[in-house]
Amino acid sequence: MKKALDGLRVIDMTHNQAGPACTQILAWLGADVIKLEEPGKGDVARTNMRDKDSDSLFFLILNSSKKSLTLNLKTDEGKELFKKVIEASDVLVENFSPGALDRLGLGYDVLSKVNQKLIYATIKGFGTYGPYSGFKSFEPIAQAMGGAMCATGFPENPPTYVWPAIGDSGTGMHMAIGILAAIQQRHTTGKGQQVEVSMQDSVANIMRISLRDHQRLGGVQKRTGNQLGRNVPGSTYPCAPGGSNDYIYIFAQQQMWGSFATAIGRPDIIDDPRYATAESRWENRDTLNPIIEGWTLQKTKHEAMRILGDAGVPSGACQDTGEILEDPHLKERDMILDIDYPPRGTYKTVGCPIKLSESPAQIERPPFLGEHTEGVLGDLCGIDKEQFSKLKKNGVV
Ligand SMILES: CC(C)(COP(=O)(O)OP(=O)(O)OC[C@H]1O[C@@H](n2cnc3c(N)ncnc32)[C@H](O)[C@@H]1OP(=O)(O)O)[C@@H](O)C(=O)NCCC(=O)NCCS
Repeated sequence: MKKALDGLRVIDMTHNQAGPACTQILAWLGADVIKLEEPGKGDVARTNMRDKDSDSLFFLILNSSKKSLTLNLKTDEGKELFKKVIEASDVLVENFSPGALDRLGLGYDVLSKVNQKLIYATIKGFGTYGPYSGFKSFEPIAQAMGGAMCATGFPENPPTYVWPAIGDSGTGMHMAIGILAAIQQRHTTGKGQQVEVSMQDSVANIMRISLRDHQRLGGVQKRTGNQLGRNVPGSTYPCAPGGSNDYIYIFAQQQMWGSFATAIGRPDIIDDPRYATAESRWENRDTLNPIIEGWTLQKTKHEAMRILGDAGVPSGACQDTGEILEDPHLKERDMILDIDYPPRGTYKTVGCPIKLSESPAQIERPPFLGEHTEGVLGDLCGIDKEQFSKLKKNGVV
């Protein structure tokens, strides 16, 4: 079956997480993603947190379904070959520190002349303009500067880091949207363009609800832990058997209140004036929350979720990483997959969350460093065996 992005060639000069997360999604949707890495070194993620005599899991979970091409861009021959590769490509994605590609003489001003149709996608911590544009960044920096940390945690604790990588993978997903938009525009203009996504901008973008509350409720709000708004139930509740992750999140709005009270075996409190309205439930939360807990503590988090889900009340068992990897629902949806990567063996990875009926994602093992160099240079630059051996000897590949 043909894939949605068949025929789209993406040169992936990304490293760590923010860039690779973007290009991995494009690869799953069918793009021919060629990861361009430094010879002998590669994406820093290959060795970062290496746990076996193999590329690290950090690298493996972010680089499936790609090819790997090595080129030393600090050599003249490497730069020339790179320009030929760019001539034959649609998209270049990079997330080096500010100015790195310009220092190599491979900025947008140069590459857009090599290929007018090129979409040049740049991820930076703070973008390419603005007072912080010269600064490098990592996930926690983006979370701190995008507002996520001051909004997260309990009021008595300091600003708190959230583990879902909203600054890294979140930025990668924004970039994927930007690239697809630029491709669509190219259909009408025939020209490429520069696409820029800043990690701080991406976090600020998904922080907009808290920024609404700043204006709605009069200034900086205290951290509220797990409490969502003034909703009861609208927090986590402990479940049996009382382990550190045995909690369920329940969020029932007014129209669900009757179903919720019935589901927890307390239809008698539906019309109780202390609990009948959202406002009265909030005012009387100190007596209502213990009633709810009295019920959740009798059930496991999954039992409670099943009962509430069946009653039309939104709730979620707080699943730990082990439960996620074994979750039957995620497995049925091809979201937890086993991939073989020699010599490491099999590891588990997360599948494609975008389900296209006419372009199901095909997830293949990540590439070894330089695995496709000879083939790609042969196809795109006409390099033959002899020339390839010479390039190898000279440290270009
Ligand atoms: C992540 C980050 C902090 C790492 O910084 P760093 O370790 O100092 O690495 P840099 O990106 O500055 O530099 C990479 C170097 O490798 C070089 N390089 C990369 N690919 C190369 C290749 N194929 N051949 C030769 N050299 C190469 C670059 O030219 C650069 O060299 P320079 O320092 O001489 O300019 C920085 O890249 C950054 O801020 N990126 C943008 C935000 C981001 O994506 N953060 C990570 C989120 S997961």
